[in-house]
Amino acid sequence: MTENIIVITGATSGIGRATAEQFASNGYTAVLNARTESDLKELRDDLPGETHRVVAGDIGDENTSKVIKTIVDDLGGVDILFNNAGYGEIQPVTEMSKDAFENQLNTNVTGVFLPTKHLLPVFREQDHGSIITTSSLAAKNSFANGSAYVASKKAVQGFMECVKQELRDTNVKCGTILPGSVDTAFFNDLPFGPTADRHLDAEDVAKTVWFVANQPASADLDEIVLRPAKRETKD
Ligand SMILES: NC(=O)c1ccc[n+]([C@@H]2O[C@H](COP(=O)([O-])OP(=O)(O)OC[C@H]3O[C@@H](n4cnc5c(N)ncnc54)[C@H](OP(=O)(O)O)[C@@H]3O)[C@@H](O)[C@H]2O)c1
Repeated sequence: MTENIIVITGATSGIGRATAEQFASNGYTAVLNARTESDLKELRDDLPGETHRVVAGDIGDENTSKVIKTIVDDLGGVDILFNNAGYGEIQPVTEMSKDAFENQLNTNVTGVFLPTKHLLPVFREQDHGSIITTSSLAAKNSFANGSAYVASKKAVQGFMECVKQELRDTNVKCGTILPGSVDTAFFNDLPFGPTADRHLDAEDVAKTVWFVANQPASADLDEIVLRPAKRETKD
């Protein structure tokens, strides 16, 4: 079996990319997922280590998780599943199409359900490992025009709480991270973004994923709310 394996969805940018770098620099083999194959190959080649694998595909499409499972079987197991792929559909309810709403839930919620469903039998069989999911501070701080996004992030919290209950008879852990504003491409098409004096860097979240993955064997964190600290800004 390959030692120390992490599966990362939404791996090519922002939080996912920083997490891939954090774990690969510490000897992990990463199974990297996103939709854009060229970005995945570039990331794979940039990471330290020669054993990383890529799975190009929409995480809301069940076949993507089936391919991930095949690779995990080939590697001989998985230590961490980091459910991270997501985006923000920010629109007033009355202007949002049914497709836009459903697409948001498909990526942000079904895209957490599917890899979890397909890798759970492996985690159970090993009786070891962690499932870690990126929710958002938005799950606690609702805001106008955020209905689809906030609904998706509250949904994954509930999902993870239930998975944790399903795993109570095992040593498999489940944790959810709720970051505040992180300076990433997430905001590229949005009418607002992180402020200069208060935002997280993607590396802050990656280090938190590392912390959750390396918590004491006898501990099982439920959720971490990660708020940006005040930064000094130049006038
Ligand atoms: N940035 C923030 O302030 C913030 C705060 C709290 C929570 N979050 C959450 O953190 C997660 C990562 O966000 P980020 O800020 O790192 O955003 P980002 O820089 O835009 O990265 C998003 C990543 O997800 C991939 N992706 C998007 N849709 C996908 C899909 N359907 N299937 C597979 N991969 C997909 C993207 O690659 P492709 O486009 O090539 O697929 C990219 O690798 C998201 O779940 C987001 O909701 C972000």
